[in-house]
Amino acid sequence: VAQPAAGGGTPSDANTILLGEVGSLTGAQATFGVSTRNGIELALKEANAAGGVKGKKLAVRVYDDQGKPEEAAQAVTRLITQDKVVLILGEVASSNSLAMAEKSQAAGVPMITPSSTNPSVTQKGDYIFRVCFIDPFQGFVMAKFARENLKAGQVAVLQDNKSAYSIGLKDVFTQKFAEMGGKIVATESYSQGDTDFRSQLTTIKKTKPQAIYVPGYYNDVGIIARQARELGLTVPLMGGDGWDSEKLFELAGNTLDGSYFSNHYSPDNPDPKVQKFISDYKAAYGGVPDALAALGYDAAKVAIAALERAKDLSGPSVRDAIAQTKDFPGVAGTISLDENRNAVKSAAILKIANGKTEFVTTINP
Ligand code: PHE
Repeated sequence: VAQPAAGGGTPSDANTILLGEVGSLTGAQATFGVSTRNGIELALKEANAAGGVKGKKLAVRVYDDQGKPEEAAQAVTRLITQDKVVLILGEVASSNSLAMAEKSQAAGVPMITPSSTNPSVTQKGDYIFRVCFIDPFQGFVMAKFARENLKAGQVAVLQDNKSAYSIGLKDVFTQKFAEMGGKIVATESYSQGDTDFRSQLTTIKKTKPQAIYVPGYYNDVGIIARQARELGLTVPLMGGDGWDSEKLFELAGNTLDGSYFSNHYSPDNPDPKVQKFISDYKAAYGGVPDALAALGYDAAKVAIAALERAKDLSGPSVRDAIAQTKDFPGVAGTISLDENRNAVKSAAILKIANGKTEFVTTINP
């Protein structure tokens, strides 16, 4: 059963507005939950230092779902029935957000996912929002990059068949790459948490791809990269936002040098508001914020601005206020929510060199 993480807030009362958060603070994708929590915490601290919202302080109750959809769903039920939060922030992994969205929508409690990109998440209903782009765009971006910049004609795909995110991204990439005149020469699958990918990689190698698309999470991708190189597959790997973690390089060493992935944000962005966020984050948590931290921060800021605008703190009022978000200056791009409650934003392509990411280009919708 999901337990409140240390430092949870006090219930909403005359002086406090309580928000809920669900994330993978432990488990295979723990950096996702920890970075997101830090970003959210930073935004709340800033808002409280500036006087709070509607004359009240903001607090957040955080539950750890260990990266599991069932735990994420239970945590939402608790946030709604016991903690009586006014809105919910989370999750990162689309499979977890899908499980949460079902419950939030049914209860009429608004939910904002910072970073889940699978289109079906916000299709769960009119209380479910996101501050990031969606995978039909992200998949297109990498297909275009593979064709136009890498000049790849033949690409293989290795997907995680336990992840709504991975399957969705594979589908779009495959379709777009073919429409652009490329050929998918192999499609292989694994299940998240697997540790031996050699048989899939051996099959892929025989088809002589010029690049391999691996739309998975960093904990698996790091091992996949290492095993691909051991088998003599030297072509670039390509991926999506799920690669974004410091831990990727701990696992992969330098085996991802020359590979590329799409992401929401680059810390190289010279925009003063981005650089201020980075230095505040470093001072508080030590380390450069990743995209999850940036999107967690943005999701909380959007929530805070909506709470301030809302005519009261009821579900429908807060939902209506979030839906009106327009030209909001986030650190991971400007946020305008469309009629499907998705943000329409540009994507960054990052290149890996010397075990680090480098900004390559931005692609606009
Ligand atoms: N977009 C991923 C998903 O929907 C989550 C993710 C976002 C991972 C950003 C890393 C960085 O599952």
